[in-house]
Amino acid sequence: MIMFDVSWVIISIFMIQHAVCKEFPKGHLQYLGEHQAANGDITTITADQITSLEFYNNYVAKNKPLLIKQVLQRSTPVLKWTDQYLKEKFGKLRVNVDNNKQENRLIPSSEMEFQQFLSIYLESKTHYMISTMNMEMQKEFPLPTVINCDGFVSRFQDFVMWFSGGNTRSKLHYDNVENMYCQISGTKHWFIVDPADAEGHIVIDHPEGAFSGVNVTSVDMLKYPGMQGLQWWSANLTPGDCIYMPLNWWHQVTSPPSRNMAINIWWAPVLEEVVNFPCQRQHVGATLSDFNFVYGEWIRYNIGEFIKSHGSVVNYTVMHDNIVHEHTGVHVITKENFDLLDINGDGDVTIMELLSLPPDIVHKATNYAEIGALNTNGESVKYADDEPDDDVNYYQEL
Ligand SMILES: *[C@@H]1O[C@H](CO)[C@@H](O)[C@H](O)[C@H]1NC(C)=O
Ligand SMILES: *[C@@H]1O[C@H](CO)[C@@H](O)[C@H](O)[C@H]1NC(C)=O
Repeated sequence: MIMFDVSWVIISIFMIQHAVCKEFPKGHLQYLGEHQAANGDITTITADQITSLEFYNNYVAKNKPLLIKQVLQRSTPVLKWTDQYLKEKFGKLRVNVDNNKQENRLIPSSEMEFQQFLSIYLESKTHYMISTMNMEMQKEFPLPTVINCDGFVSRFQDFVMWFSGGNTRSKLHYDNVENMYCQISGTKHWFIVDPADAEGHIVIDHPEGAFSGVNVTSVDMLKYPGMQGLQWWSANLTPGDCIYMPLNWWHQVTSPPSRNMAINIWWAPVLEEVVNFPCQRQHVGATLSDFNFVYGEWIRYNIGEFIKSHGSVVNYTVMHDNIVHEHTGVHVITKENFDLLDINGDGDVTIMELLSLPPDIVHKATNYAEIGALNTNGESVKYADDEPDDDVNYYQEL
């Protein structure tokens, strides 16, 4: 009798487990990454092991992420930025603050004085400062040596400060711009997916911002079955580390609850037709304030990809019809603008013509479109009033 009972219990447990496993795949309703262990950490080196040209050739040109330790030395002033110091020096600046830490793109951000943010952020469950650095702040941030040559500094798009009391969680997303992200205070954990491994696994159900709607604190494996078997890599940033996140690589970034600050540098991707990446001159001792944002380079990359997707040569009709300002629907390539790009006047624009133009002319040819606001598929997207309509492709939470 006892034997019978015991085996019945064992069989029951086995059956229940089997049923649970069958209905709920591993990681179901758990944090992103619980479905299987990471393949490992991404390649990790120290800053003194690599030059900017090696970094370009071995990582950027190959679209490979890299974690670089000790980019910011302990003596770097930014690593010693206290709230008191920030308040005294920059307190009156207006900064942009998101009203949510679990990224939700439907909640609009707001502006406030930096000193107000500083007085509330540690206790706040919602405030997350995501704001372009002011010139005075840029002066205190040394240009990382891995990106200190002309090819990089001539493509800078934005320098953004990410500041909170921690406990932040981004969406699973990718960006259409290159990213060097440096931790100043606290730690950040990165969940990283190679675009080649994402295919058939990650569903882009929000194409306007290239992100997945999957709830990263509670992954619904039934709604997103592709998340099973998704291979991923990890990286953990501590103060002084920078991570290179290539465009189009999927990532999701989490911070534990405590003061957390990072600064990132966005730069425009380099078209693969660029054969000589200019990297002879090193800007030794430079700070971020020494450089301007060159928006024409981001436009150049996007128009270049557009030209390639149309057989490497495009005429006025093709450009005019397809290149559209995302929010207004305006076809920005007028005949006059087309003629700026068609250097030899033969009625076609080629990649080589595009590459030979100064960035300002490329930008002018789109009526100085703001970053992230051009669509090259002929479509414009109108957002509902309650949705953010600025820079939706460009700023992605980290
Ligand atoms: C994600 O899941 C958690 C846990 O179930 C829930 O509290 C949270 O509201 C969900 N987030 C969204 C955006 O649905
Ligand atoms: C422009 O190029 C498209 C696609 O190659 C072609 O169909 C069209 O006839 C061309 N238009 C002119 C005016 O040459």
